[in-house]
Amino acid sequence: MAMVKMTIDGRDVAAPEGSTILQAAKSVGIRIPTLCYHERLKPIGSCGLCIVEVDGSATPVAACETPVRDGMEVVTSSDRLFCMRQEVLKSILVHHPLDCPICDKAGECLLQDLVYEHGVTGVEAPAPSAKFRNGYATAFLRSWPERCVLCFRCVAACTEIQGHFALSTVEGPDGSPLVAYDESKCVSCGECIQLCPTGALVEKKSERRWRNWEVEQKVRTTCPYCGVGCQQLLHVKNGRIVKVSGVEGAEPNQGRLCVKGRYGFDFIYSEERLKTPLIRENGRFREASFDEALDLVAGRFKKIIAESGSDAIAGVSCARSINEDSYQMQKLFRAVIGTNNIDHCART
Ligand code: SF4
Ligand code: SF4
Ligand code: SF4
Ligand code: FES
Repeated sequence: MAMVKMTIDGRDVAAPEGSTILQAAKSVGIRIPTLCYHERLKPIGSCGLCIVEVDGSATPVAACETPVRDGMEVVTSSDRLFCMRQEVLKSILVHHPLDCPICDKAGECLLQDLVYEHGVTGVEAPAPSAKFRNGYATAFLRSWPERCVLCFRCVAACTEIQGHFALSTVEGPDGSPLVAYDESKCVSCGECIQLCPTGALVEKKSERRWRNWEVEQKVRTTCPYCGVGCQQLLHVKNGRIVKVSGVEGAEPNQGRLCVKGRYGFDFIYSEERLKTPLIRENGRFREASFDEALDLVAGRFKKIIAESGSDAIAGVSCARSINEDSYQMQKLFRAVIGTNNIDHCART
């Protein structure tokens, strides 16, 4: 791969041709503030926060969108850039309600952090939030349009990553772009929430139930729902899961989850959950040990095979099983029981 040589804040940097200034800076540990950028998305270029000076240019450029070139001299931090970033943040706050005390995102909100970092303490003339459309909700998510910073990460998350096209960019009444939502295409996967940098999209299941700083543990695990093996983070408060998110940067899902993996965790706490094998006798179930239950099943299998042959038995393995368990299931049926009647229920 051809490399270009440049300087960033006076440091010599070699970056792959075609990469952006933001990527080149990150590769040597230089942080440039961003809001609309997310490494899983193509550059959006909507916020203007990642501005940097190039070769002493009169007008700064967006680091997330500008490709590197040989001999480029980049400055990422100066009094001028700091003031310009402050102005960008103030222009967002003009339309922003600052309801951090009741916002689910408080504590892990990128806007909150950037405003704090840049010492923006208020705006002179807050504007009414008529700029935004009405909110929308599904069984699992709710939008708070007035908290939206119009970064359009959610639109890219829904189209580029999930391919559902439920979100799009439309022209608002004043000519500026807005996010539009199409309920008929939304599958409540929550990818838009995971990538939204603010509290403009929140999860209904956790709304007003806990604060981010109350999560005492984030436990990494594998989703139990299907054989894909998506990596999840279980957010735990007082020993109970309060939220599930996808693990950014981890295979195979790279942060993505489906609606089941993200929101279907209540069953763990169900009182009706089976904790021991049950054997039916005289029309009623009674609790049994695994040894007793397995002996009973093995005995019945032997009896059926003796009376009617191995092909009188069929096995259907569970879609929630891991590959190794499914492999062993077919091995048990083919090699031990002696039938090819083996199938899997994940045929949707
Ligand atoms: S989105 Fe962020 S800045 Fe806005 S109210 Fe919520 S926590 Fe505060
Ligand atoms: S929940 Fe999923 S499908 Fe629905 S808008 Fe968000 S990203 Fe798109
Ligand atoms: S809802 Fe969130 S991700 Fe979407 S444009 Fe608004 S702030 Fe950005
Ligand atoms: S992060 Fe570059 S324009 Fe938003």
